[in-house]
Amino acid sequence: MPVHGLTPILLRLLPLWMILTPISSRLIQRTALCNHAQLTSVPSELPRNIEELQLNYNHIQTLRGDSLLAYPSLNSLSLASNALEKIESDTFQNSKLLKSLNLANNSLHIGTQETSDALKKLPGLRALDLSENKLWDEMVITLLQNLTSLEYLNLSGNLLQRLDETYFGDLRQLKELDLQRNVIFEIDSAFHGNTKLQRLNLAYNYLPCLTDFQMTQLVVLNASHNFIEWFISRQDLNDTFQLETLDLSDNKLLFFPFLPSHSRLRNLYLAHNTLRFYENLDFPNSTTSVEFYNLNKNVSNITAQLWNDSLHGDISSLEILDLRVNQVQYFPQGFIQKMSALFRLQMCKNCLKSLNLTSEQFSGSLYELDVSDNRLNEIVADERTLATLGNLTYFNLSLNDLGGLPSGLFSSLPSLRSVDLSYNNVDICFSEEAEISTDTFASCVDWKNVVSLEQLYLKGCNLQVIPRTAFAGLSLTHLELSNNPGLIVQQPMQSLSRTLQHLGLGNTHIQDFDFSSFENLRFLNISRNSLAHLPQSLLNLDLKVLDLRDNRLSTIPPGVANALAPKLRFVFLTGNPFNCCQTEWFRTFEKTKTISMVEQSDIECEDPLVTTHRVQHLPSFVCSGDARESIFWYIVLFVPICLSFVGISAIVLFTFKPKMLKKSIKKKCLKRTSY
Ligand SMILES: *[C@@H]1O[C@H](CO)[C@@H](O)[C@H](O)[C@H]1NC(C)=O
Ligand SMILES: *[C@@H]1O[C@H](CO)[C@@H](O)[C@H](O)[C@H]1NC(C)=O
Ligand SMILES: *[C@@H]1O[C@H](CO)[C@@H](O)[C@H](O)[C@H]1NC(C)=O
Ligand SMILES: *[C@@H]1O[C@H](CO)[C@@H](O)[C@H](O)[C@H]1NC(C)=O
Ligand SMILES: *[C@@H]1O[C@H](CO)[C@@H](O)[C@H](O)[C@H]1NC(C)=O
Ligand SMILES: *[C@@H]1O[C@H](CO)[C@@H](O)[C@H](O)[C@H]1NC(C)=O
Ligand SMILES: *[C@@H]1O[C@H](CO)[C@@H](O)[C@H](O)[C@H]1NC(C)=O
Ligand SMILES: *[C@@H]1O[C@H](CO)[C@@H](O)[C@H](O)[C@H]1NC(C)=O
Ligand SMILES: *[C@@H]1O[C@H](CO)[C@@H](O)[C@H](O)[C@H]1NC(C)=O
Ligand SMILES: *[C@@H]1O[C@H](CO)[C@@H](O)[C@H](O)[C@H]1NC(C)=O
Ligand SMILES: *[C@@H]1O[C@H](CO)[C@@H](O)[C@H](O)[C@H]1NC(C)=O
Ligand SMILES: *[C@@H]1O[C@H](CO)[C@@H](O)[C@H](O)[C@H]1NC(C)=O
Repeated sequence: MPVHGLTPILLRLLPLWMILTPISSRLIQRTALCNHAQLTSVPSELPRNIEELQLNYNHIQTLRGDSLLAYPSLNSLSLASNALEKIESDTFQNSKLLKSLNLANNSLHIGTQETSDALKKLPGLRALDLSENKLWDEMVITLLQNLTSLEYLNLSGNLLQRLDETYFGDLRQLKELDLQRNVIFEIDSAFHGNTKLQRLNLAYNYLPCLTDFQMTQLVVLNASHNFIEWFISRQDLNDTFQLETLDLSDNKLLFFPFLPSHSRLRNLYLAHNTLRFYENLDFPNSTTSVEFYNLNKNVSNITAQLWNDSLHGDISSLEILDLRVNQVQYFPQGFIQKMSALFRLQMCKNCLKSLNLTSEQFSGSLYELDVSDNRLNEIVADERTLATLGNLTYFNLSLNDLGGLPSGLFSSLPSLRSVDLSYNNVDICFSEEAEISTDTFASCVDWKNVVSLEQLYLKGCNLQVIPRTAFAGLSLTHLELSNNPGLIVQQPMQSLSRTLQHLGLGNTHIQDFDFSSFENLRFLNISRNSLAHLPQSLLNLDLKVLDLRDNRLSTIPPGVANALAPKLRFVFLTGNPFNCCQTEWFRTFEKTKTISMVEQSDIECEDPLVTTHRVQHLPSFVCSGDARESIFWYIVLFVPICLSFVGISAIVLFTFKPKMLKKSIKKKCLKRTSY
């Protein structure tokens, strides 16, 4: 070991050492931190009784047999990110207390056999991290022999392909296994012996299916980011599966997973698949069983009654169901009703055409319902149904084809805090309309006196007029009205002036809006409004974010810039035809460290010749503020051009028309000149 490497480590170690081992007799964690120290071997001068040794990010290639003899109390050793190729077989002869060994991000594929012999001398090892070591199947089998006490094993980022019972058979105590980011395409009875396994991560592999799932003791299974078309669990088991979290997102599921018949499943993540229900389709004589083959030519016939929507297993404990980005057109009858503890349903980007809250019978614990970006043209609900949705807080209906909603929908939901109705064709009710209407369906929406409501999003709803009393009785903090061109808003908004913090008025064509009473406003979007001047009423507000993109601003007067700069955190300014000769505001904002001009390098201006420049790299001659100086620059630019033109003409004349030249010189010489 180079001596110069050791000194800084010991120096760093010393104060820490003193902190960690005070003279008191209480057992203190004894840790030596020697990370990032360019070491090529284990330092031998450390206190003999250390219990934890960290040697991450060094250059140790071989862990020599005698390296740890001096530290018999070691129970945790970490050697991640060295270029470790092997551990000599007698390295751990004196390390009977070692419980945790981190060998992540090394090159143990080189010396597998010797390393394996070394590991065999660790009968008490509980946690082993072998991630990122370029290990192939056979190497892993070798390394894991006899590690019977292992509880945690990390093999992520290796080159495992096919798992069977020979891999983890010895690991009877295993509780957590991380196999993500390998190239696993088949699993054949690999975990039968691991009856204590609770957490299994198979994310980012190449699995085409998970069938015959029967690990009743597993609590968390993560198989996201594979190519899974089928998830089928053993249906004939009477035991209750302990499974609580199942992540199958980013796969190729065609069917809702066939879950265990008895389980405690609470979190089911199925986003980004091609899942739908099929009962409404008629497949008269289509098969109901699927055959799965594996490399051993072992065919198994699994009958799954594919077209029977009722066979999705036990979903009664589900709290979170994430179905974002799938192809669900409807919910099977009784499906929603079975989830009596459902808390969050995420259905964004599916194909739902209608939602009958009355027939679905959502649970009273429903807190968040996101049905945005579907094809909904109706929502049906009666009063009694709405009364059960007392906990619904977040309701996203944006990007649908809704023309109306059940009357009194929002006023019947006492916990409602956030509603997004953006990009639908809804109108806001005039007060008379809402009172007269006795239908269960109203073509306009109304949220008068929904005292819990804080956030209301109405972007792109083709709104023209907002009735004077539209926001009466509300205490909104967020209101989004952007993308409603031609909207007339001033009057009705006054009732919100005390509470509003976030206001979106982008692309509404507002011109003379008076913001002065909105004293709590922190975020304001007035982009795309053809504004030629910044509204004066903004100056007294304590804004943090101001969006001014795509207007017609030619400058921001110095007084205004100076008033805004110390308050704002973010300002959006691109897409305005700024005048290059009036850009003091840019320097003001640039100098103020607390403000950030978003897309700063894309802010442009026009010079007097209508050429566009980037304000950030404005050449100083374009506009130096001094008119005479700029004329000077024009002269400096033009004179050489004129001179060269004259010169070229003269040469042409000299060369081709000598006679003419003589004449003209003669003529000129006759004239009197001023010099
Ligand atoms: C893995 O180790 C190499 C050096 O051997 C290092 O450059 C790299 O940053 C490490 N990777 C991680 C994720 O720590
Ligand atoms: C390792 O396990 C095998 C059987 O799996 C056994 O024969 C062998 O004796 C064990 N070796 C040690 C060092 O415990
Ligand atoms: C396993 O190792 C990888 C890479 O070293 C790490 O990202 C991951 O968090 C580890 N897994 C667990 C469960 O600690
Ligand atoms: C599953 O694993 C992936 C990749 O590590 C991770 O992004 C995701 O959050 C995990 N899912 C759950 C439910 O923890
Ligand atoms: C499950 O229980 C049923 C009836 O109680 C019984 O017929 C069946 O054999 C049991 N299945 C298993 C795998 O134990
Ligand atoms: C379905 O099977 C029945 C007999 O099992 C047969 O009569 C009928 O033609 C079949 N239909 C189709 C569409 O194949
Ligand atoms: C197929 O697998 C089953 C259970 O895993 C086993 O009992 C059977 O012997 C295997 N059949 C063949 C042909 O390998
Ligand atoms: C699977 O089921 C099909 C149809 O029921 C049958 O023809 C086939 O022989 C079965 N295969 C096995 C391996 O049992
Ligand atoms: C679907 O399965 C359920 C539960 O086993 C059963 O009651 C129902 O009759 C089945 N439906 C069809 C169409 O087979
Ligand atoms: C909604 O469901 C209820 C209860 O099942 C039913 O009476 C009503 O006709 C349904 N409405 C529509 C429009 O489908
Ligand atoms: C609403 O939520 C509260 C607490 O979050 C819970 O105690 C109550 O039971 C829920 N209401 C219903 C109808 O589930
Ligand atoms: C509602 O859903 C849309 C589309 O999925 C999303 O862009 C928007 O941010 C959501 N609204 C809220 C308030 O979260």
